[in-house]
Amino acid sequence: MFVTDDIKYIGVNDREIDLFEGQYDVPNGMAYNSYAIIDEKIAIMDTVDASFGDEWLGNMKNVLDGRKPDYLIIQHMEPDHSANIARFMDEYTDAVIVSTAKSFIMINQFFGTEYKERRMIVDEGDTLELGKHSLTFVTAPMVHWPEVMVTYDKTDKVLFSADAFGKFGTWDTDEDWACEARRYYFGIVGKYGVQAKKLLDKAAGLDIAIICPLHGPVLSENLGYYIGLYNIWTTYGIESEGTVIAYTSVYGNTKKAAEILREKLIEKGCKKVVLNDLARCDMAEAVEDAFRYGKLILATTTYNSDVFPFMRIFINELHERGYKNRKIGLVENGTWAPTAANVMKKKLADFKNIELAETVVTIKSAVNDDTLAALDKLAEEMK
Ligand code: FEO
Repeated sequence: MFVTDDIKYIGVNDREIDLFEGQYDVPNGMAYNSYAIIDEKIAIMDTVDASFGDEWLGNMKNVLDGRKPDYLIIQHMEPDHSANIARFMDEYTDAVIVSTAKSFIMINQFFGTEYKERRMIVDEGDTLELGKHSLTFVTAPMVHWPEVMVTYDKTDKVLFSADAFGKFGTWDTDEDWACEARRYYFGIVGKYGVQAKKLLDKAAGLDIAIICPLHGPVLSENLGYYIGLYNIWTTYGIESEGTVIAYTSVYGNTKKAAEILREKLIEKGCKKVVLNDLARCDMAEAVEDAFRYGKLILATTTYNSDVFPFMRIFINELHERGYKNRKIGLVENGTWAPTAANVMKKKLADFKNIELAETVVTIKSAVNDDTLAALDKLAEEMK
């Protein structure tokens, strides 16, 4: 596959993977992208996951036309991209690795050598001339590890963006980009919004025609759309109007309250209501929804003097990712001592810029007339 006349796609699709990074469901698989820039000198952009070394080296040979690569540019050391470094270096014994100083520490940790005789350490703004193509390296610490850099090819106006602008799914999956890119971003990079925004700000000064991420499709049209979404996501902005109800339910009574709340929100004109049963839905999807919309209702049972386990995990997932700038409503259920709302308030106390709804709904075992009135009040606040 050609990205431009001189830049070829040599990555692989993983259709067998069960959990990406050991935790994320990827029903449409995963792409580990790699690119070859063919010029007077040849640069290979990153490697691929350990299981795909043969396929990747085969793809590379197919585009090199008998030539050998001069440089292996390593933008990110997470093994989904770096696992084949030693294999490449054994195969192409004259090649040089180009990467940040932090990467070489990690290369040593993973492969037992820093390739001291065969390395080029680069830093912010350094350039590499391949002939016609001039590459500039831009550091991107914590997007999504500390050693990360991205690379700009000013000749073809291509930004090699590392994990940024990646998504779940093989590169040829025909699906809405934003849905799986959002789940990927908030799942994997979401904690580092400030750092990701810094990268966006640096990229804003570049004339970019094509974005080549390490996952998902190459982006070559309507770049303003993707960059616009990244600007919202990295600043914890509200992408869509609406309210998310995230609930747990043991015997169906809290679920019933959540469903009533959904109906009331719709009746009151709420543009979009998303209902997530935290025990059964994909947790990464629930996290993505919480970041997408501006209002969130947490409904859960009192359990071992805490909240039900899936709610505890959910709140923790939001906390880890710096969830903020949202309005949150609380619904608790308990048969003899409902305390879930207070527990949740304590858990939310150090979240930034969170407005709590005044109405807290307390269900004693099952929904009754008092609960219905309280749910109505909460819906009024959260519509
Ligand atoms: Fe795709 Fe952070 O590795």
